Amino acid sequence: MRPELSRQLTAPVVELEDVSKTYGEVAALVGAGLVVRRGEMLSIVGPSGSGKSTMLNVMGTLARPSTGTVRIDGHAIDDLSDRQLSALRARTIGFVFQAFHLAGGVPALDAVADGLLYCGLPRGERLRLSERALRRVGLGHRLYNEPHQLSGGEKQRVAIARAVVGDPPLLLADEPTGALDSRSGAMVMELLDELNLAGTTIVVITHDRDIAASLPREVRIRDGRIECDSGLAEHADMGRVGV
Ligand SMILES: Nc1ncnc2c1ncn2[C@@H]1O[C@H](COP(=O)(O)OP(=O)(O)OP(=O)(O)O)[C@@H](O)[C@H]1O
Ligand SMILES: [Mg+2]
Repeated sequence: MRPELSRQLTAPVVELEDVSKTYGEVAALVGAGLVVRRGEMLSIVGPSGSGKSTMLNVMGTLARPSTGTVRIDGHAIDDLSDRQLSALRARTIGFVFQAFHLAGGVPALDAVADGLLYCGLPRGERLRLSERALRRVGLGHRLYNEPHQLSGGEKQRVAIARAVVGDPPLLLADEPTGALDSRSGAMVMELLDELNLAGTTIVVITHDRDIAASLPREVRIRDGRIECDSGLAEHADMGRVGV
């Protein structure tokens, strides 16, 4: 557990205010309100098609909402051009997906260094930071392996290294253990936990009830609506006791 969070409210890193997203006739997200604060780690759970990935994509600014306000690190994204939004995303948010999204034929060291392409660092520095990130996820011995030479769990650890190599404050993960056996999945969750303890704010979509139950906060979504947010009760309590 993270006792420091139960004592104080940190600054919001993501704020959704009455956010909806429609695709044609489909209301994928309806009137969502959510605040994620620095240092939190939470799960988003719900049935297939309930809007979890839509919500994560909106939180990650990969999709603009149809209505409502999204703020990232205090910036309302409506006020930003696509270019400014890409820059904000590049420095603030790392993404991890179920299917790893690693290009074939690219060694781990280069795949992770590519996560820094938009930071303006010279290649040597990108490779140095890439090696450090791969060591951090326990893959110092697999720097030159291509995806087909890595296990599923190792591929996901490369993807996590790529997501965090630029040290973004926020990591968004869409079913990061969905393609893994339970042991590799547990290792990936341990790694996310370590990153969170070191300060990264983490949002994880999961179908796994045990994973959801093990995290400090759970947001349940159904038919595009948030039906339960365990963080709300906690924050209300904190307001009442005045800490
Ligand atoms: N790009 C899109 N175009 C049209 N409809 C979409 C698009 N993306 C999602 N949808 C629809 O929006 C709804 C929510 O989809 P979403 O992908 O957010 O669900 P999910 O909760 O992530 O499901 P799963 O657990 O299966 O990944 C679904 O009905 C889906 O068909
Ligand atoms: Mg999904």
